[in-house]
Amino acid sequence: MRSWASVAMRDAPGAPAPASGADQLKALRSLGPHLWPKGEPLLKARVVAALCLVFLAKLFNVAIPLLLKRAVDALAPHGHMALIAAPLGLVAAYGAARIGSQGSGEIRDMVFAPVVQRAVRRTAIETLDRLHGLSLRFHLERYTGGVSRIMDRGLSAVEVLLGLTLFNVAPILLEVTLVSAILWRLFNPAFAAATIAVIVGYAAFTFAVTQRRVSMRREMNRQDNLAGAVATDSLINYETVKYFGAEHHEVARYDAAKRDYERSAVKNQATLSGLNIGQGLIMTAGLVAVMMMAAVGVAHGRMTVGDFVLVNAYMLQLYQPLNVLGVVYRSLKQSLVDYEQMHRLLRTEAEVQDRPGAGPLVDPGGEIVFEDVGFSYEPRRSILSGVSFRVPPGRKVALVGTSGAGKSTIARLLFRFYDATSGKVTIGGEDLRDVTQASLRAAIGVVPQDTVLFNDTLYYNIAYGRPDATREEVVEAARLAHLHDFVAALPDGYETMVGERGLKLSGGEKQRVAIARVILKRPRILIFDEATSALDTKTEQGIQESLRELAIGHTSLVIAHRLSTVTDADEILVLEQGRIIERGTHAGLLRKDGVYAGMWARQHRGTEEPVEA
Ligand SMILES: Nc1ncnc2c1ncn2[C@@H]1O[C@H](COP(=O)(O)OP(=O)(O)OP(=O)(O)O)[C@@H](O)[C@H]1O
Ligand SMILES: [Mg+2]
Repeated sequence: MRSWASVAMRDAPGAPAPASGADQLKALRSLGPHLWPKGEPLLKARVVAALCLVFLAKLFNVAIPLLLKRAVDALAPHGHMALIAAPLGLVAAYGAARIGSQGSGEIRDMVFAPVVQRAVRRTAIETLDRLHGLSLRFHLERYTGGVSRIMDRGLSAVEVLLGLTLFNVAPILLEVTLVSAILWRLFNPAFAAATIAVIVGYAAFTFAVTQRRVSMRREMNRQDNLAGAVATDSLINYETVKYFGAEHHEVARYDAAKRDYERSAVKNQATLSGLNIGQGLIMTAGLVAVMMMAAVGVAHGRMTVGDFVLVNAYMLQLYQPLNVLGVVYRSLKQSLVDYEQMHRLLRTEAEVQDRPGAGPLVDPGGEIVFEDVGFSYEPRRSILSGVSFRVPPGRKVALVGTSGAGKSTIARLLFRFYDATSGKVTIGGEDLRDVTQASLRAAIGVVPQDTVLFNDTLYYNIAYGRPDATREEVVEAARLAHLHDFVAALPDGYETMVGERGLKLSGGEKQRVAIARVILKRPRILIFDEATSALDTKTEQGIQESLRELAIGHTSLVIAHRLSTVTDADEILVLEQGRIIERGTHAGLLRKDGVYAGMWARQHRGTEEPVEA
């Protein structure tokens, strides 16, 4: 399945070069504007509200152990137990503070969700737009499955990065500071110092181990991309796999990719467990040390039982976000890796670009000129050389020649999927490189060699040629393309689903959909790349008639293997190995008795059709 326009997938998905810290920072910075969305005062208000709620939640958090301590101290036996109201009130306040803390956290997430989701949507749109903006070469060199996985992971990363940085990292620092200050004021600096030491030790350990795990994660991602790409590619080629009974081969290929992933994932889990154990040890050691200090204080009468409870409660409470901090840091790092990969796609320069200040194509109906055009897909192999020809306005030029001669390549150059390596292509005197791609492509209608359809209805696929067309226009186009009778006879008519890539249609039906689309598009220039090759002779003759009518007043470039379809061309170019070896009208070329005459004779051997048309 190689269409000259289809986005196919080949070649190994190149391992992305590891990103530098600077790249990641640049990627992260690009998220900034999403936190303060331009022209969205409501979203901005939500950001502010969410920040206030973060602060509120932390205040509640700090109050909880203090209330607990007061309750414990109030319950301690000191004679007048009649005042039961005091401890009860404190316990109630304690409960209220807990609810306040949890509630503000949840409300914060709720308030902030629209900001995050808007950012995800914007980034998704930008990425898809960018991917469509990239050149055909980029897409031919990538596995589509790999690209869409990078996109998926990148988008979840946006969610993580926006939510986590704002609501976890910064607030944890705030909480640690508050708690240390309180411990310092209530007891002595030793408590604050011990608390800070535990936290610094914990953070340092976490960061060090996580740092090492990042490269592992990147490797896992690469293997994940590869496995995804292999699976997608094998499913896309479902039929080919069956033709060659290659199911085992495909599964084995997938297994190889998955095996590597399995190994990495196991290693990843092992280091994760190690990390968790280390974190637990550090935290518990800190907790025990601080509680021992408090126990000594209570024994010496310097501290109350309430203080002992307070210290324990604060430590446990810090433990929670710290535990989260580990997870947060890990997912931050991972998300940075994922996001950076997607960001790199966003930064990829398109090979074919509009020149700054490029204007629209002024005269789409003008003469098409190929001037000494040379082209190669890759430097080592020349595909076209010294190709020169003209298609005067409203005329029809045909390209014929052996397979692989470069016929479709000439069409791709005219459509500017690629730029000529040497020489130039002009329309109405304007170099294609000087006009906008959009205006150029709007002027050209293409019926490609292999038509790939969207997995939608027939109607959708035909109307794709001009989405604002009325139903009558769509039906009329189908009629002209000799498709209407077939569609009308279908149980679901125009609402029939065509299947993935249009595989539920026959080759000829797909070709006719492609023709109908182009009829609907009404371009000034037409390119038919073996537009009727999949049709039987009778249908072909009918369509040729329509195409001929369609071509009246249009400048057209027709590629054909079946020479009988191009006998009426104003000029026929015979291409061989990227060079024009013969040119002239049908009659002229036959008189010349060269390559073309030979091809004609071979195609009509055994038919009673006269050699001279
Ligand atoms: N994206 C690509 N990268 C590298 N080489 C390519 C690429 N596309 C096509 N080619 C090569 O360029 C040559 C010309 O291809 P092209 O599709 O123009 O042939 P064609 O004349 O249309 O053949 P056919 O009649 O079989 O459709 C072929 O040898 C092909 O292998
Ligand atoms: Mg071709």
